[in-house]
This record gives sequence, structure tokens and C-alpha cells, in this order.
Amino acid sequence: MSNLNPNTKRETFSSGLAVFFATLGSAVGLGNIWKFPYLVGINGGGAFILVYLICVALVGMPVAISEFYIGRRARTNPIQAFEKLKASSFWKIIGYLGVLTSLFVMLFYSSVAGWVYLYTFKAIKGDFTNIASLPIKEAGIFVSNEFNIAVNGTLSPMLWQLIVIAIVSIIIFAGVKKGIEKVTKTLMPVLLVLIILCAIRALTLEGAKEGINFLFSMDFSAITPSVILSALGLAFFKLSIGMGTMMTYASYFTDDNNMPVTSARVALSDTGISMLAGLAIFPVVFTFGLEPGSGRGLLFNTIPLVFSKIPFGNVLLAAFFFLASIAATTAMTSMFAVPVSVLTESLNMKKGKAVLLTGGVIIFIGILTVHPSSLLGNITILSLNFFDLFDYISSNIFMPIGGLLIAIFVGYFVAKDDLINELSNQGKLNMAIYLKLFRLILRYVTPILLIIIFLNSVGLLKL
Ligand code: PHE
Repeated sequence: MSNLNPNTKRETFSSGLAVFFATLGSAVGLGNIWKFPYLVGINGGGAFILVYLICVALVGMPVAISEFYIGRRARTNPIQAFEKLKASSFWKIIGYLGVLTSLFVMLFYSSVAGWVYLYTFKAIKGDFTNIASLPIKEAGIFVSNEFNIAVNGTLSPMLWQLIVIAIVSIIIFAGVKKGIEKVTKTLMPVLLVLIILCAIRALTLEGAKEGINFLFSMDFSAITPSVILSALGLAFFKLSIGMGTMMTYASYFTDDNNMPVTSARVALSDTGISMLAGLAIFPVVFTFGLEPGSGRGLLFNTIPLVFSKIPFGNVLLAAFFFLASIAATTAMTSMFAVPVSVLTESLNMKKGKAVLLTGGVIIFIGILTVHPSSLLGNITILSLNFFDLFDYISSNIFMPIGGLLIAIFVGYFVAKDDLINELSNQGKLNMAIYLKLFRLILRYVTPILLIIIFLNSVGLLKL
């Protein structure tokens, strides 16, 4: 297929493996190790995880495959894609909404990524070395104090946020392929090993049984309509879907990539990593008498504790936060790529200018989120502070609306043959039955489920 702009030849990933790792690099990030555990903690454990998994299977994967279809078929950014596919210009709204969503996510994501960078620095400085010698209760108090001081400082969180944004800008400026492929391929497995190590150690702590019970408890009394909406939002957030990120990635996919299988692999690995993070965190919560529902500090309040129980824990703690910083950075890179590709490809802006503009917007507005519980954090809109507001609107409203539009577009406005052809790599993959099933779910299950969850959460529909 030819490009709209003949002067820009679009690069592609070098291999199927590179596609998988890059996509996983976008999916795996703070959503897995920070947001998933803290939402599971707030929403009462296993039952929430089950609702989350249903959302991944019936909404997340069909939307991911649809984004892959649009991205690779059009091989351009999420706005021009609809011109390329000869769709009505109404559908460009998916691209515009995606740009807005990615900006909203980056506003708070950069702030949390900044905390992770700061924790890497603190671990290297040895701020957590004395935990090992503290009695259990005091160790718990020590880490919560450290977190409060870290996030409520005036200049420091802002500075770290700025560093995050600068690094991401440089990676984007240096080019998608070089920047993302190299980093993710080599370092992701190391982070995985460290998370597994944490989980193993955590599972041998006294509170392991309680932690596991919590993770697998099926108490459905906590599952309210708004909890279902947040499980749905988490599925969108974790899989990086509903905002054009996966569409943008897919525009660089190789022609022979098996996209439905890629989506399944990514969803499974992403869920696996989140569960491992849960197994590493909740036993610590119960061993050290912390609160499972303590919120966004959960990761930062537990991980230093589990490493205090491992030989060479300090070095490993620094390595953990360093690698988590990388995961956060690669995930954020994929968000940043959305506005940049639109600005350069649709508005013909120079890459440098587009990067500066995007970075500038996040820096200026993002400052509002670095003080979640102090200074500007006191300002609330709809009883949410800026941090929670950007988080809520992006994950629970914008992404599901984007997902709904994507599902309707691919399910109802793309010719069946065209869809099946692209997803089966022009018939080279023998998966006709699965593709039919996928299209059925996409048409009749995904959109209906999305609408029901929405109406239910705003109280217009009582289940
Ligand atoms: N999926 C990423 C994570 O889990 C976050 C993300 C959201 C990345 C949206 C890109 C787009 O951290």
C-alpha cells in the first residue's frame, strides 16, 4: 500500500519478535506494577481481578486486534488512517480523542514515573539500608514516611517529572525503531526476573497466606458499578488501547506478523506480570501490617520491605527501581509518539518542533499532578484532585469511548473480507474460524458490554 505522503517512507520493526517486545514494552509499565496492585487493594482483591480478566478478554483483546488492523492496514497515524481506509471523516475523531487521551495520561504518568526515578536514586544513595534492622512495625512506618516525604516535596517531584519528560522526548527524537527496540528487548527480561525474585521471597514471608487469600478471594460484595468501570478502565490502560497507541505501533508492524496471536501473547504476558507484582506485594502488606487499600503509595511502601529480606537487597532494590524506570519510560514513549506522529504527519510539523510542543504541554499542565496530596493537590474538581481527575477521565471515560468507536468502526464499517484478509495476512494464516468468532464478539459483545458498563456506572441502567 502506498503512503499518503510519498516523501516519507515508513520504517517497520525488524522482526516478529521485535514487534512482540515493542508492543509488550508499551503494555507493561506502571500499569502492571503500580496501578494494578493498588486498584486490586482498594477494590477488595480477587473478585476485582476476575472482573478485570473478563474485561480483557471480551473488550481489551477485540479492541487491540481492531487497532492492529487499522494501524497496519493504513500504515500512518491514527488521524490520517481513516482517510487511507476511505472512511467518513467522522472517524477521525478516534485519532483526535487519542491525542487528547495520551496527553491526559502523560500528565499523571510522568509524575508517577518521576517517583520511580526518585526511588532509584534513593535506593542507590542507600536511603533504605537501615530497614533490615528495624522491627516489623517500624519498618512499615518508615517506608510510608519516606513515600510521603518523596511525593510531597516541592521541587524534587517536579524536577524528576521534568527529567522523565526530557528523556522520553530524546528517545522519540532519536526515532521509534532505534529508541524503543533496543531498550525493551534487552532489559525487560531482567525486570521480569527481579519481579519473580520478589514474588518468591514474598511468598515465603509470614503474611504470604493472607496475601494469597486476598488476591484470590471471591468476595463480590465489593463489586459495584463504579468498581466494574474501574476494572474496565484498567484493562484499557494496561493494554495501552483505546487511544491510538497500539494503532500507531501497528503502523510499524511487519506484513507477516500474526496480529491476533500477538494480541493474545501481549494480553497474557501483561496479565502474568501484573499477577506476579500482586504476589510480590500483598504478602508484604499482610506481613508488615500495612493497609491493602492504601492507594497509590502501595508499590513504594512494599517493595523496599521485601528487598530488605533478601541478601544484597539494596543493590537489587536499586536495580528493581532502575528497571521499573525503564518500563515506565518505554510505556510513556509509546504515548508520546501519538501526538508527535499526528503533528509531523498531519500538520507537517518538523519532528523537533513537535517533540518540544508535546513535551512543553505536559510539563506545564503536568506540574498540577506532582503534588497529589499537598499544595495544588488541595484543589479539587468533581471532588477529585488533578492527579485523580486526569487518571479518571483518561482511563474510565476517554479510552473506553475510543474503544467503543474503534469496535464499531472495525465491526460495522470495515468490509468483512478486507478485515479477514488483513488479519490472516492475505489468507496465509489458517485461522478463519477464529477470525469469524473475533468479528462476532467485536460486533455483538464488545460494544454492548461497553455501553452497559457506562450506563450502569452513571446510574442510567440498574443491573
Ligand atoms: N500500558 C501502560 C502501562 O501499563 C500505560 C499506557 C497507557 C501506555 C496508554 C501507553 C498508552 O503502564
